[in-house]
Amino acid sequence: MSELPEHIEALPPLKPVPRLLEGQAALVTGGSSGIGKAVALALGAAGADVAVNYVGRAASAEAVAGQIRSGGTRAIAVQGDVSKEEDVVRVVGEAVAAFGTIDILIANAGLQRDALVADMSLADWQKVIDVNLTGQFLCAQAAVKEFRRRGRRPQVSRALGKIICMSSVHDVIPWAGHANYAASKGGVMLMMKSLAQELAPERIRVNSICPGAIRTPINTEAWETPEAYAALKTLIPAKRIGEPDDIARVAVWLASDEADYIYGINLYVDGGMTLYPGFEGGG
Ligand code: NAI
Ligand code: BGC
Repeated sequence: MSELPEHIEALPPLKPVPRLLEGQAALVTGGSSGIGKAVALALGAAGADVAVNYVGRAASAEAVAGQIRSGGTRAIAVQGDVSKEEDVVRVVGEAVAAFGTIDILIANAGLQRDALVADMSLADWQKVIDVNLTGQFLCAQAAVKEFRRRGRRPQVSRALGKIICMSSVHDVIPWAGHANYAASKGGVMLMMKSLAQELAPERIRVNSICPGAIRTPINTEAWETPEAYAALKTLIPAKRIGEPDDIARVAVWLASDEADYIYGINLYVDGGMTLYPGFEGGG
């Protein structure tokens, strides 16, 4: 992520990532920036091989893969649009060709195309649904097929496979001016829970991480000026924006056998954004 602006406090460093994922292979969609990049790096640091998917920024994805390799595990950058079925099948195939299989899917790729309802083009509605919702479906479908093809490896993980959907607090918090985005994330919630119910008997664990405001390129205007950041903090009981590593550490744990009995949850990682902070002094 870009340099920390002066108006955002620096946080004390975290301890090294625990090696919870040795011998496993992961695919991270949208892994060249923001949350996906941090998750890909943390999975690598946890001992996993990582396929870093990107749609348009090859050099950034190659840099992430190179950083993972320098930590001692395998990594490749794989181009592909998650909203296109043939791309998703190819991306998963390239990861399997490189690592033998995948054990973990982080369905992270996503975007915003914001507009008030009367101004929202059908193209912008459809684009957000295609990438944020259909893209997660296509990636989950391809991952499930690979988990079944590969079969159990109890020495590597108790689960046959793990799917983590990158959802949002906006799977439950309505968001005026962002109807397409909130609809896509609300859809992810029930898609995730339905897949979790369907696949749990095979010990495929499907869960969502629901970030609050995390400092990435998707929401620069919400934190880049002191005024915007002050307004954002009124929505966050913890009174700080999240950093991509806040999500990455949770993803490592949720993908690991430390979380082996967790099926079909929405894990909010949001500094309390879902606690209705408007009621701090009212109601
Ligand atoms: P970002 O813009 O840095 O990352 C999104 C990534 O998805 C980019 O690398 C982009 O190139 C990629 N992408 C977009 N369309 C794609 C496609 N068709 N195929 C493959 N990749 C594609 O933003 P950020 O914040 O890291 O977003 C990651 C995920 O986290 C998204 O799903 C977003 O909705 C979610 N999220 C982000 C929050 C935040 O505050 N930053 C909060 C809640 C959820
Ligand atoms: C959005 C961000 C926003 C955050 C909190 C995320 O899903 O992508 O733009 O800052 O939710 O509202």
